[in-house]
Amino acid sequence: MNRYESVCRQLQSNPKIWLITGVAGFIGSNLLEYLLRLDQTIVGLDNFSTGKRSNLDEVRNLISEEQWKRFRFVEGDICELATCRDVCAGVDYILHEAALGSVPRSIADPILSNESNVSGFLHMLVAARDAKITRFVYAASSSTYGDHPGLPKHEDTIGKPLSPYAVTKYVNELYADVFARTYGIETIGLRYFNVFGPRQDPEGAYAAVIPCWIRALIKGETVNINGSGETSRDFCFVQNVIQMNLLAATTTEPTAVNQIYNTAVNARTSLNELFAMLRDRLIQHYPRLEGCEPIYRDFRKGDVLHSQADISKAAALLGYIPSHTIDTGLDAALSWYVKNL
Ligand SMILES: NC(=O)c1ccc[n+]([C@@H]2O[C@H](COP(=O)([O-])OP(=O)(O)OC[C@H]3O[C@@H](n4cnc5c(N)ncnc54)[C@H](O)[C@@H]3O)[C@@H](O)[C@H]2O)c1
Repeated sequence: MNRYESVCRQLQSNPKIWLITGVAGFIGSNLLEYLLRLDQTIVGLDNFSTGKRSNLDEVRNLISEEQWKRFRFVEGDICELATCRDVCAGVDYILHEAALGSVPRSIADPILSNESNVSGFLHMLVAARDAKITRFVYAASSSTYGDHPGLPKHEDTIGKPLSPYAVTKYVNELYADVFARTYGIETIGLRYFNVFGPRQDPEGAYAAVIPCWIRALIKGETVNINGSGETSRDFCFVQNVIQMNLLAATTTEPTAVNQIYNTAVNARTSLNELFAMLRDRLIQHYPRLEGCEPIYRDFRKGDVLHSQADISKAAALLGYIPSHTIDTGLDAALSWYVKNL
């Protein structure tokens, strides 16, 4: 049995109390579903700035009544310290996902991104410290690698941030480190690479590439590629992210704590390859997509050119073994995309 399997078994026999911030969002609602299936007790916080009530409704429909009763939802904002204190009370583990994602959103409104991503983060750290929680696991980001050209990305070598969003996520790491050293709180930061899976929002100017393109293909709209299409990413299925959160929250290995970990697969897929993968999967449902091609336009400011994670640190210290590649992740999520997008 690998470490993840044994962690899931232990949690089932000895359930814990978890706080998930950003619980109505894409990653938060997937964490919620998985942990409720393991019969854990969950407090969830969200202000619905980008998250949706329908994500919570969907989770409710996927689990039993008994499991749903173990979930308490609080509508509120991490920018309010009193709210953070309320949701941290009595909690064992915090999975902090709440933030305003998207590089272009942060370029359009850096003050707004800073409020949730930096001030809100600091409120959560203070509340977690005072509530004496066991572990604070938070969503960091691969954008912290900034303009450093090295591939694959190692946790200890970063460049200069390329966007206000990247600054906010790097500041999270600095604050977590200082809180560990100053107040003794245990934190782990997970630098997510491009995560995809069910319930990722396809709508709006700040949508992630995979749901955005799938929706465009299904609706017969144009798929735009920014740049030549040779830009590449380490696309990470959400089940791998769930695994990393559970491994990080429960590790008792002292050297594994107060660390940052890449959360991805250690693979690289170009946007041109991604387009072909999505089109070829959707053709079985929409034969009209045969021969469909994207439209190329200007490269987007703030984006990095290539991204690929070295995941050996997570493998060595946390026992991480990704369960899904981009191919198996897309296969697993395809029916959700076809039904919902
Ligand atoms: N999806 C990715 O590829 C990716 C990559 C790197 C990092 N991340 C990080 O992972 C986390 C989750 O991302 P996601 O893709 O699920 O995004 P998401 O937008 O679907 O989820 C974020 C959730 O946080 C909530 N939220 C935002 N500000 C809040 C506030 N002030 N108070 C309370 N709730 C608030 C939103 O309503 C939303 O439900 C974020 O911290 C994001 O920066 C995501």
